[in-house]
Amino acid sequence: MTQASTIEAESGTTPAPGNSRGEAPGTVVIDAVTKRYGDATAVDGLSLTIKAGEFISLLGPSGCGKTTTLRMIAGFEQPDAGDIRVSGRSLLGVPPYRRDVNTVFQAYALFPHMSVAENVAYGLQQKRTPKSEIRERVIDALDLAQMRGFADRKPTQLSGGQQQRVALARALVNRPSVLLLDEPLGALDRQLREEMQLELKLLQSRLGITFVFVTHDQGEALSMSDRIAIMRNGGIEQLADADTVYARPASAYVAAFVGQQNFFRGRAAEGGGAVDSTHALVRGATPASPALREGEAGLAAVRPEFVRIEAAAGDAASDAVNTARGTLLGVSHLGETMQYLVRLGDDQSLIVRRPTPEAPQVSVGDAVVCSWRPESVLLFPADDAASDGGFVAPPTA
Ligand SMILES: Nc1ncnc2c1ncn2[C@@H]1O[C@H](COP(=O)(O)OP(=O)(O)OP(=O)(O)O)[C@@H](O)[C@H]1O
Ligand SMILES: [Mg+2]
Repeated sequence: MTQASTIEAESGTTPAPGNSRGEAPGTVVIDAVTKRYGDATAVDGLSLTIKAGEFISLLGPSGCGKTTTLRMIAGFEQPDAGDIRVSGRSLLGVPPYRRDVNTVFQAYALFPHMSVAENVAYGLQQKRTPKSEIRERVIDALDLAQMRGFADRKPTQLSGGQQQRVALARALVNRPSVLLLDEPLGALDRQLREEMQLELKLLQSRLGITFVFVTHDQGEALSMSDRIAIMRNGGIEQLADADTVYARPASAYVAAFVGQQNFFRGRAAEGGGAVDSTHALVRGATPASPALREGEAGLAAVRPEFVRIEAAAGDAASDAVNTARGTLLGVSHLGETMQYLVRLGDDQSLIVRRPTPEAPQVSVGDAVVCSWRPESVLLFPADDAASDGGFVAPPTA
């Protein structure tokens, strides 16, 4: 998507003085960083290289270490081990205001008694930037955030979205190589959030600034990022683009966190290419990846959008490779799609989603047959899911 701007940003600049590693300005390298609070390890040996001009998201559940990682890049926290470099220079011991990095927080923390322009100018005044330069840069930053017409207002006279734009302008006025954003859109309602997502993305590709964007909203991460780092327990579980984390999640944890999944638990069967669970023998496409060993505990996953549903016609056998029979418990209209909840047994339901124009003729209470292709099935070792307290693959709905 913004691959072109990434390449431009990398090739069009020369390494900063003191940069012996050939890391372009705007490159962020997190090198085996650990951060502990007492007995708790918030970030655990995390390594991540963020390319200059890249839009990267840190995505993960509450407490997985996203904010701590960001605060260490910004300089508000010091790592207990490891190194952080921006533009090829180690930042250990460098105070926040001397880093080529700015942060936009969820709580915008604007000064209420100052006007919008004064809020944006504040940081530059502290650095004793010449007045004429401040004026020019404040106007530029307000333009970028589309807030020029609001320069004289007080924060209390602005909407939430407008306040967030001022917070953005306040960061951009420093012209940083790297912008850190910690759930900046979390306080906005859905429609405004989607507008701001688009705008932020456009702004980022236009300016070529490296964006490190923290969110626990998977849709936001999928729609905006060049790459997504899925975090788990202070480390990175998978680092890849949106297509890859969606279609080829590295683990059941990632599969469950990105999009929605129906999970079937059981024993690996048919040489490891299938999972034999109570309500279905779920076959994957061969070769299965990651491979299961015959007989070991396994998890098969299939997304709701890959499952078909139809009324069960007597006891005619379906010729699909993967089928499950059940009772339709509920139907919800989601706009573009219809969602069906099917009870397979006391302990398991299946979620099915079909495009609304293709909605099948089924009613609540009907006996139904669900089917899906082996190519839509992901197989995982079961212990992968149960190995930490933070995640257990749900037995579906
Ligand atoms: N100042 C602190 N003192 C003690 N523990 C902390 C501190 N800051 C964070 N932690 C702990 O470190 C872990 C990671 O916290 P962090 O704020 O990085 O999570 P997060 O991924 O940003 O979560 P959220 O999505 O809820 O914002 C948590 O277990 C948290 O309780
Ligand atoms: Mg956080």
